[in-house]
Amino acid sequence: MENISDATRQFIDLRRHMWMENIEVDLRRLIWQIAVTGKYISSKIQESNRKLAGFENIYGEEQLALDRSSDEIIKRQLEFSGFVSHYASEERESIIQVGTGNEKYIVTADPLDGSSLVETNLAIGTIIGIHSESIMTGGDKSLVAAMYITYGPLITMIYSAGNGTHEFVLNREGEYVLSEEDITLEERGYIYSIGGLRRDWTREHLDYVRDLENEGYKLRYSGGFVPDLNQILIKKGGVFTYPALKNNPNGKLRLIFELQPMAFLTEQAGGMATDGRRRILSIQPETLDQRCPIYIGSTYEVEKAKTFLDGKTTTI
Ligand code: F6P
Repeated sequence: MENISDATRQFIDLRRHMWMENIEVDLRRLIWQIAVTGKYISSKIQESNRKLAGFENIYGEEQLALDRSSDEIIKRQLEFSGFVSHYASEERESIIQVGTGNEKYIVTADPLDGSSLVETNLAIGTIIGIHSESIMTGGDKSLVAAMYITYGPLITMIYSAGNGTHEFVLNREGEYVLSEEDITLEERGYIYSIGGLRRDWTREHLDYVRDLENEGYKLRYSGGFVPDLNQILIKKGGVFTYPALKNNPNGKLRLIFELQPMAFLTEQAGGMATDGRRRILSIQPETLDQRCPIYIGSTYEVEKAKTFLDGKTTTI
C-alpha cells in the first residue's frame, strides 16, 4: 500500500491490513490471535505491581511470575487457535503439542523478554516466531512470520509475514492500528546497542566497538532486546549486538526464541542479522536452547562487524 495518509492510517487495523496484504487466511487469524495475547500480558504486567516471584527458569535465570503467566497465556491462546500443532517457549524445556498435531503451524515464544526490567518500569516485550515446519530446520526453511510486542509507554506490535515489516499501536479502543507501514532501514544509522561486559569482549569485537565510537555512534542500551532492537527499527538504523564473549563464545541470546524471529523482521525491513559472519536465518539449530552471538541492524554496521571479526580491519 502506498502513500497512506496519517488520517487513513488510523482506520487501518491489524486485520484489515493483513487482508489488504493478501496474507493467507489461517496465518492472518493466527497473527491476530497472538496479537490479542499482548493485551492479556499487558494486564498481567499491570496487576503484578512489578513484584519478582523469585523462581529460576530452566537456564538458572531469575524467572518472574510474570514470565510464567505470559507463557501460560500464549499457550492457552494457541490451544484454542485451531492453527497450531506445537508450541516451544523459552520458559519450557521441550516442545509441547497444543493442537491435534496436524495443524499447519508451530509457534515459538520468548513470552516476556527482559522481564526483570519491569521492576524499574523500563519497556519489555514478547517475541514470536511462526513456523510452517520443524523449528530445527533453521529460520530460512521454517519461518513464515514473526512478530514482537513492546510493553512501554505504548503497546506496539511489529509483524512481518514476508511482506515487509509493519508497526501497529494499540489504541484506547483496544484495536491495533497501523502506525508505520514497510519500515525501511537506512543503509547506516547513528546508534549502537551492545551487551556483555567490555572486559569479556574479544579483541576483534572491542576494535569494532572502538571504530563505531570513533565514527560518532551514540550508545543506546536498556538491557531489553525488544526495546533495544525496536529503537533501531523505528529510528531506521544502527546496530544491536550481543557478541561472543571470551569465556562464552555463543554469547547470551537464544537463536530460536529471540534471534531468528528478530532477524526475519529486520531483514524484511531491509537490514541484516548475522552471528558476525553467517546470516542468523541460515543457521540450523542443534538444540532448542542454543545461544548465538548477534549483530543486527542496518547493513553498514553489520557488514563492518564482519571485517573486524575476520581480522581484516583493526583499530589502534
Ligand atoms: O535475553 C534476555 C535479555 O534480558 C535480553 O532482553 C537483553 O538484550 C539481554 O538479556 C541483556 O543482557 P545483559 O544483562 O547481559 O546486558
